[in-house]
Amino acid sequence: MIELNTEYLVKQIDFESYRAEVEKIHHWIDDKTGEGSDFLGWVNYPDTYDQKEFARIERAAQYIQLHYDVLVVCGIGGSYLGARAAIEALNGLHPDSKVEIIFMGHTTAPSYISQVLKYLKGKRFAINCISKSGTTTETAIAFRLLREMLIEQAGEEASKRAITVTTDKESGALVELAKKYGYERFVLPDDIGGRYSVFSAVGLLPMAAAGINIRDFMRGAKEALDEYDNPDIATNAAYQYAVIRHEMYTKEHKSVELFVSYEPKLVQLAEWWKQLFAESEGKGKSGLLPDAVTFTTDLHSLGQFIQDGSPCLFETVLMVKNPAVDVILPGDEDNLDGLNYLEGKTLSEVTEKAMQGTLMAHSKTGGVPNLVIYLKRLNARSLGYLMYFYMRACAMSAYLNGVNPFNQPGVEIYKKNMFHLLGKPGYEK
Ligand code: PA5
Repeated sequence: MIELNTEYLVKQIDFESYRAEVEKIHHWIDDKTGEGSDFLGWVNYPDTYDQKEFARIERAAQYIQLHYDVLVVCGIGGSYLGARAAIEALNGLHPDSKVEIIFMGHTTAPSYISQVLKYLKGKRFAINCISKSGTTTETAIAFRLLREMLIEQAGEEASKRAITVTTDKESGALVELAKKYGYERFVLPDDIGGRYSVFSAVGLLPMAAAGINIRDFMRGAKEALDEYDNPDIATNAAYQYAVIRHEMYTKEHKSVELFVSYEPKLVQLAEWWKQLFAESEGKGKSGLLPDAVTFTTDLHSLGQFIQDGSPCLFETVLMVKNPAVDVILPGDEDNLDGLNYLEGKTLSEVTEKAMQGTLMAHSKTGGVPNLVIYLKRLNARSLGYLMYFYMRACAMSAYLNGVNPFNQPGVEIYKKNMFHLLGKPGYEK
């Protein structure tokens, strides 16, 4: 499903020199003995997930599809990025799915929130509120506003059927709300952190409501689990990716990794990837800054810097080998635009040539290392595979850097400061 091309890395990597280190860390991940091991529930989840809850997710999604035009997914960070990434990657930017998915709870911007509320007026909408802690301010604010509007529009009883929550099994404000009002509840297991939660109800319910085949998605994840549950650096592509990142950071002194894709519908996947790596690795004043660009669009903006600016970055290109659709360029009698030399060619051929030209320009001329990750095709199954690949690579990469991949102390500090400044009881100091 995935193939790495290291030809454009400028210097080749001696994977063998990492054999012992990678094996040791692999066992930390597998035996749950590394730092942060309380949060390794995601590792085997595609194999061990609760089938009954999965069936409930499918039923809830069908119910949403039958009764509502819009699903508002209310969450932030790991409680929303995975679902959004998967839905956009698979359904595109102008989807024709039955249910429109809108995201709220990831911002406090009054302009955005009031626009969404206005848009929902008179529409049949459901809410899926997602928060592990149940205390995240952005999400709680959005949920309060949405609930109020829903109750006003559809009535108290109907609102109970329209609301689902995904949260901790036992504790937190969302559990209490769900119990009091009888909202259907889905669980984010204790041992899975937000950014590793896309294979739980956090990702699955919004995806299923958007019409995505979540069985295929989980099948892909399970295939990746089987593939990467392997300590051998010579054959484990996820660990090779981790080692390349580590070499870029420690030996080539790069401080930025750019996620490159040629697909606008992968912008949100890049956002998910950014969170995964930034929150897992950016600790102790160390780590690569994960950033993202979409080509060829950004070749006309950041391209100049990448080619010729300070040599602080390397690129990791995600390329889908076999696009599901293509467009053939027609000929034109006048040829005033001079494009007849492309007559009969497909846009995927044009994109492929743009990629090759860029790889050569950036790596050969500009000296910017480029890794290419080829994904055979993009569908629910391969996306599940790919997201698991990144998660496994991320855990290895953070451990190679000597940090705990599963906490996020920096995020907690801002949350506490915000509570204090807003005057939340219990946060006076
Ligand atoms: O990855 C993480 O753990 C974070 O990004 C959280 O998902 C995010 O802060 C939201 O937290 P919660 O789900 O508790 O509302």
